[in-house]
Amino acid sequence: RGCKLVGCGSAVPSLQISNDDLSKIVDTNDEWISVRTGIRNRRILTGKDSLTDLATEAARKALQMAEVDPEEVDLVLMCTSTPEDLFGSAPQIQKALGCKHNPLAYDITAACSGFVLGLVSAACYIKGGGFKNVLVIGADALSRYVDWNDRGSCILFGDAAGAVLMQACDSDEDGLFSFDMHSDGEGQRHLNAKMKEREKEHHELGTNGSLLGLLPRGSSYSCIQMNGKEVFRFAVRVVPHSIELALAKAGLTRSSIDWLLLHQANQRIIDAVATRLELSSERVISNLANYGNTSAASIPLALDEAVRSGKVQAGHTIAAAGFGAGLTWGSAIIRW
Ligand code: ACO
Repeated sequence: RGCKLVGCGSAVPSLQISNDDLSKIVDTNDEWISVRTGIRNRRILTGKDSLTDLATEAARKALQMAEVDPEEVDLVLMCTSTPEDLFGSAPQIQKALGCKHNPLAYDITAACSGFVLGLVSAACYIKGGGFKNVLVIGADALSRYVDWNDRGSCILFGDAAGAVLMQACDSDEDGLFSFDMHSDGEGQRHLNAKMKEREKEHHELGTNGSLLGLLPRGSSYSCIQMNGKEVFRFAVRVVPHSIELALAKAGLTRSSIDWLLLHQANQRIIDAVATRLELSSERVISNLANYGNTSAASIPLALDEAVRSGKVQAGHTIAAAGFGAGLTWGSAIIRW
């Protein structure tokens, strides 16, 4: 039994913020941002917008492309680190899509690697679990966790959703050739958005003699803390190696790759990885300039644009790789 990609879709918020717009908020400019990152614009969810709605729209488009009815979906994987419900948002998407037969739906949290991990999970469910139609959605709204006073990080991120439908097929049509995935908790200090410390408050309330004062009440998360240079070095070091490992597992070589599709974090990271893999820029997919780093959404968003523009065609081999907070990273060699 194999699995193949049969549809993709994406959705972005309507509010576009350019580098010039950002220069009115923090001390930066278009030249610095575009030269160091390749980013020119990003889309941002306003306070009234819903990430769950955006994810649902992307998923619906993927189903339409695949000509699969929502009722035929038996698993929805929502890859996100910014859910609108701490308990997960995938069941809300399942409901909004009208998947009436109560398919399993849950969230996967792995920051910018989330989509690749979701894709591999979907393949395992299909190949080993008898599942037939699995929606893998990557959606994030990191703008909600950005410190808009920190010019070193606020210029990087945007919000978006992307989705693919993975379907069971005969093994000779299999569209996931191989994968390679890793984590390194040691590197968390370089990139995180931790739960806020509340011990001090508990202690102060506790000294009033009230048990209630000792108990945690609500919680919230800090803004993204990032050591950009370390994250940059990490990505350029691990991603080419991971892709090489995945290629070797599939018995393929670099020349088998039609398209390199990396998590869209920084154009200089994408270029450095392509150079290390000796892949020319014509074989690299990039839409970072328009959307910035959209975390788990970046790979399916770029894939969707490349498929709909006719760049990626049936039978093409794609080396996809995600990397980011955790630290986590992973590659998948897939066929469209
Ligand atoms: N505009 C103008 N100047 C700036 C800005 C800005 N937006 N940001 C920083 N600077 C200044 C700094 O203050 C510093 O000034 P100084 O030399 O006077 O001290 C100078 O520019 C250089 O700053 P660096 O931080 O050293 O710049 P660097 O070349 O490392 O680029 C960047 C920073 C773009 C963040 C880069 O390190 C990067 O892209 N790293 C990867 C980050 C990333 O991809 N993170 C997301 C991972 S995915 C996930 O899981 C969320």
